[in-house]
Amino acid sequence: MGGKPLRGQVIVRGAKNAVAKEMVAALLTAETCLLKNVSNVQDTEIVASMIQAMGGEVSPKGDGVLAIKAAKLHSVHYRELKHIAGKSRIPILFAGPLLARFGEAMLPELGGCGIGERPINFHLDALQKMGATIEMIPKGVHLKAKKLIGAKIHLQFSSVGATEQVLLAGVLAEGVTTLTNAAIEPEILDLIAVLQKMGAIISVDTDRVITITGVKELKAYEHSTIPDRNETVSWACAAAATNGKIKIKNARQTDIMTFLNVFRLVGGEFEVADDGITFFRGAEGLKPITLETGVHPGFMTDWQQPMTILLTQANGTSIIHETVYEERFGYIHALNQMGAKIKLHTECLGGKLCRYSQRGYQHSAIITGPTPLHSANIEVPDLRAGFSYVVAALVANGTSTIGNIGLINRGYENFVEKLLLLGAEVTE
Ligand code: EPU
Repeated sequence: MGGKPLRGQVIVRGAKNAVAKEMVAALLTAETCLLKNVSNVQDTEIVASMIQAMGGEVSPKGDGVLAIKAAKLHSVHYRELKHIAGKSRIPILFAGPLLARFGEAMLPELGGCGIGERPINFHLDALQKMGATIEMIPKGVHLKAKKLIGAKIHLQFSSVGATEQVLLAGVLAEGVTTLTNAAIEPEILDLIAVLQKMGAIISVDTDRVITITGVKELKAYEHSTIPDRNETVSWACAAAATNGKIKIKNARQTDIMTFLNVFRLVGGEFEVADDGITFFRGAEGLKPITLETGVHPGFMTDWQQPMTILLTQANGTSIIHETVYEERFGYIHALNQMGAKIKLHTECLGGKLCRYSQRGYQHSAIITGPTPLHSANIEVPDLRAGFSYVVAALVANGTSTIGNIGLINRGYENFVEKLLLLGAEVTE
């Protein structure tokens, strides 16, 4: 039931997009690793199940602590891995650790999803440069390498996953790996921190250059994952969109500086304290903006959806140019059914051309606001869009029904409980 401002405090724990990769890093050693601040989201359970299927032990120790021991790993059929992983992108990141441990890895094909094609060519090219042989098999990929060798690798696009792939493969490779045009998201720097604790030698230089000096073996780590900045941004937009006020405990300013600038420009306000950030709508109301998504330190593609909801309530016309995924506006149709005025365009709007120019993808949006939203029956298409539908429903008049909310649980810990704490009227 919408129309009520969200007010109160939510606690944000470990970033889902760091936790999963840090769990995979534990496979690089036979010793027991301790990962702390792990949020209870489905994606973490999926990775735990994959590790367990391979003979690793993942034991919850209470209060967000996971002990991971991969002393006795064995191979598991890649189709079983795919069955456990579902649409998760994580299986391909097992390549490096499995090659280091067994000289071989059979991994499922990942396939596309609702936000774009999401190929794995950068991952495979990098592994090939490091000496792996690659054979495509029905619905999977078979990789072999007696020993991975350091290489010079350049990414066409600063892919998060491919950067993580090179890190996880390079740390135990022979010699030096240099990665240019690397992604440098805070979640990647957190993974590097984990690998460094394990004994890896990795430097992050200016201009997106990462250098990894391979070592012979790695040891256990104990690490507390950085808070989930994508979740923080989602709640921040929910606060301003519903004209409420939410304190996000544990949110870190330095991870979301680009978002904070945009939030301020659109009329949001925030107060930074030692233990978190409080977000609300400024007295002058919400203003339109032109922005484009990009890799860090740009405006993350995962912030585009909650920002869109906010901009439906701003006074004027906004433009968002999505440059990371070709189909990340698939969720707009349902918002228009709720009364939003959003038009999608195949051109690169807002000034700069991106790699989707002239390719026919609807990757720019013109959002005309403010539009009152009304209730609807909608289905969640993907994680970030799903949470944004919830925010749209809280802005809207009347009672909306949102189906397929299981997808939201993949990345937002106890979101229904948190909504209730913030005063929302929600039933599951
Ligand atoms: N790409 C390729 N080839 C590759 C790899 C990527 O063309 O081999 C392209 C992708 O198709 C996309 C772009 O490069 O157009 C960026 O993809 P990237 O590899 O950076 O994304 P990812 O690692 O698959 C992670 C997050 C996403 C987040 C993106 C961008 C995880 C599990 N997923 O995906 O998070 O949007 O980085 O920051 O870390 C989410 O949390 O909802 C989510 C989708």
